[in-house]
Amino acid sequence: MACSRHDWTSRRAFLRVAAGLWALVAGARTADAARAQPLRPTPSCAGESSPTPRQTEGPYFKPDSPLRASLLEPGIVGTRIVVTGLVLSTDCQPVSRALIDAWHSDDRGVYDTTGFRLRGHQFTDDQGRYRLETIVPGVYVGRTRHIHVKVQAPNRPALTTQLYFPGDAGNARDPLFSRDLLIQVREGTDGKAGTFDFVLDLGGRPGRG
Ligand SMILES: [Fe+2]
Repeated sequence: MACSRHDWTSRRAFLRVAAGLWALVAGARTADAARAQPLRPTPSCAGESSPTPRQTEGPYFKPDSPLRASLLEPGIVGTRIVVTGLVLSTDCQPVSRALIDAWHSDDRGVYDTTGFRLRGHQFTDDQGRYRLETIVPGVYVGRTRHIHVKVQAPNRPALTTQLYFPGDAGNARDPLFSRDLLIQVREGTDGKAGTFDFVLDLGGRPGRG
């Protein structure tokens, strides 16, 4: 039986609506599936990632720093910054209970070599997260702004490295500066907010701590 033009027009309209509804259903299913999958810990680590580069410890490391996530205390002046991030393995798995020991100079570029000002260590949580509250370090002769860090997975050797600040005029003059070690910094409501994810090569034999 032949269809009239009106019938065809209605049929096309029906098919368009049906196709639109199907696309909506399919889209919702895709979104549900995406939500059901575990989120990647960070966009910068997908599948396989290179270990965070090692850097020199420098002359000012002191063992036995206090256990604390905030290095702020009375008398410390400077621009506040909170650095957050993850400790990951090279296959992008979070490393829980990883030690993060941080130390850096004060706002004038001076290290406390007698006490533990601007020194502290903490451990990542069960999702590999850390949160370091401190100030932006000052500069001293020959060095751009930097934070010294040791990161150590349980029963593994420590990774010693340094973190840098984007846009610092001293970066270009400091031979140790590495773009791979730049903190991503943005202006927050109460100082600066930075992010950096450490990647540890855990493929070797367990260390002695
Ligand atoms: Fe230093």
